[in-house]
Amino acid sequence: MDRLKVGVLISGRGSNMTALAKACAATDFPAEIVLVLSNGADPGGLERAEGLGIATELISHHGFPNRSSFEIALTERLEAAGVEFICLAGFMRLLTASFVNHWRDRMINIHPSLLPAFKGLHTHERALKAGVRISGCTVHFVRPEMDEGPIIIQAAVPVLADDTPNSLASRILVQEHRIYPEALRLIASGAATVMGERMRFRAAVGNDNLLVNPVPAQP
Ligand code: GRF
Repeated sequence: MDRLKVGVLISGRGSNMTALAKACAATDFPAEIVLVLSNGADPGGLERAEGLGIATELISHHGFPNRSSFEIALTERLEAAGVEFICLAGFMRLLTASFVNHWRDRMINIHPSLLPAFKGLHTHERALKAGVRISGCTVHFVRPEMDEGPIIIQAAVPVLADDTPNSLASRILVQEHRIYPEALRLIASGAATVMGERMRFRAAVGNDNLLVNPVPAQP
């Protein structure tokens, strides 16, 4: 089986990267991680990747005069490692249209809200402040506009009366770790393809694959 060669871009602790790596460890999974690249000062994610036997690289954006030279270095390194497809997993740098268009339809992201609600940072604080009853997470293809792009899978997570940003974040994170590997599996196996601004799914892909809807946690 030809496995899709994936590069994972992180900035921090890399728990989503770890979830992807664990899925890729199964020999029948249709993708493999060939490089984990971090721009961050937090070494946690890279140490985790090394512990899993994955090639890693640290490219700090501080070492470059501007965004585009940093991104050129990223693409050079990713392509040198044979990367065909990028998973952004907590990569905390805005990417220019030039980088995004180079990797168009070959780059996905995970965001901790039900997009298109709560794009950007501080999603959980904003969800609580807005008083929504349901939040969640989204895996989507990347477009030049921040947190936009064809949606692959979403997980709905109930907001509980006594939630804090941290408690909501940790319940959503559990679902992130579930839907990110599943989205990668659907794409790498050819069951999900991006067609313009929408996804197209093979008939065998059902709602159970695309909308994960956990019941409220019991006290
Ligand atoms: C996750 O909440 C992800 O949705 C967001 O950044 C966070 C990264 O966490 N984009 P981790 O580094 O994967 O643990």
